[in-house]
Amino acid sequence: MSASYQSLSQPRVAVVGATGAVGIELIRCLEQRNFPLSSLRLLASKRSAGKTLPFRGQELVIEELNDANIRDIDLALFSAGSGPSKEFGPLTVARGGVVVDNSSAFRMDDDVPLVVPEINPFALEGHKGIIANPNCAAIISITPLWPLHRRNPIRRLIVSTYQAASGAGAAAMEELRLSTQAYLEGETYQHTVLPHPYAFNLFSHNTAIDPATGYNGEESKVIAESRKIFGAPDLPISATCVRVPVLRAHSVSITAEFTDPIAPDTARRLIADAPGVRLVDDAANNYFPMPIDASGQDDILVGRIRQDLSDPSGRSLNLFVAGDQLLKGAALNAVQIAELLLA
Ligand SMILES: NC(=O)c1ccc[n+]([C@@H]2O[C@H](COP(=O)([O-])OP(=O)(O)OC[C@H]3O[C@@H](n4cnc5c(N)ncnc54)[C@H](OP(=O)(O)O)[C@@H]3O)[C@@H](O)[C@H]2O)c1
Repeated sequence: MSASYQSLSQPRVAVVGATGAVGIELIRCLEQRNFPLSSLRLLASKRSAGKTLPFRGQELVIEELNDANIRDIDLALFSAGSGPSKEFGPLTVARGGVVVDNSSAFRMDDDVPLVVPEINPFALEGHKGIIANPNCAAIISITPLWPLHRRNPIRRLIVSTYQAASGAGAAAMEELRLSTQAYLEGETYQHTVLPHPYAFNLFSHNTAIDPATGYNGEESKVIAESRKIFGAPDLPISATCVRVPVLRAHSVSITAEFTDPIAPDTARRLIADAPGVRLVDDAANNYFPMPIDASGQDDILVGRIRQDLSDPSGRSLNLFVAGDQLLKGAALNAVQIAELLLA
């Protein structure tokens, strides 16, 4: 990874993990945003080879990800899990391609930029071929905070997530659908994707607990990645990540303590003017961000902005946000990064 990279012009693009929950959205984003590519290659596992997916009015044939099929690629958008990213990401770069990776494989590497275009596009400068797309819960949590943080730095952050099935991939979405149907029909359902019954239930995020801290893997990612993206390595952050029986779009309850006192109206004004977020804060009608409204939307919905009454200094706010983590938390953010790389 020592080559220096030119800007991309009419790149030959590959979507790796094209059949997955994120991959399908990557293809849609490339089409909807009219991404200027010269060719698109769809790669997935052997299971999907020979199937087709639509793109710009054509049916493109899916190929197996292997050494031969990852050649002649200028830009590879990886969303096939850490294993394929580790095996084929550096190989793509060695052959002169640029990788935008949705997995967690490289996110905390010092020489890999971890980018949310609304927050730290400058981190792309001098990249060495691999660019990491952050964890979805981290993106949804901190993108709405950025316009506040840059005016009045956050001193302490507490987030509690309500994470949808889609965050665990297409198979988890199917498990939620099937287990809910079985529950309503009074039948038993043997879950195979997630570790607990999912219909009419919720549970602590299905990543392993670190015995030293008691935090699960998702919570640790949210903490470490938020610090890296904000360029605030010592920012005190706590996270509780929970999987809820929502099909798509994550929600987050946020408490942020700022350096100086901050009024809810100031926060509303800053958020209303910021890119990538939309104010949904209608107290009169009790209408606030909901995953069902966030699904399919590029913007992260932000509301319930109120003073945190547990901090009489006036420096803390509570917010509630909902964002489509398949879009802004994954595919859209990755394509936005790719757009920044265009000549
Ligand atoms: N879901 C999210 O909200 C989200 C957000 C941010 C990041 N991510 C990350 O994005 C990646 C994909 O997540 P997902 O939710 O889209 O998962 P998914 O729905 O389970 O899809 C996985 C994709 O990877 C492919 N794949 C699996 N093993 C492969 C292999 N050995 N070689 C080639 N392709 C392989 C699958 O192909 P087949 O269909 O052929 O099996 C499928 O296209 C993961 O790293 C995840 O952590 C996901």
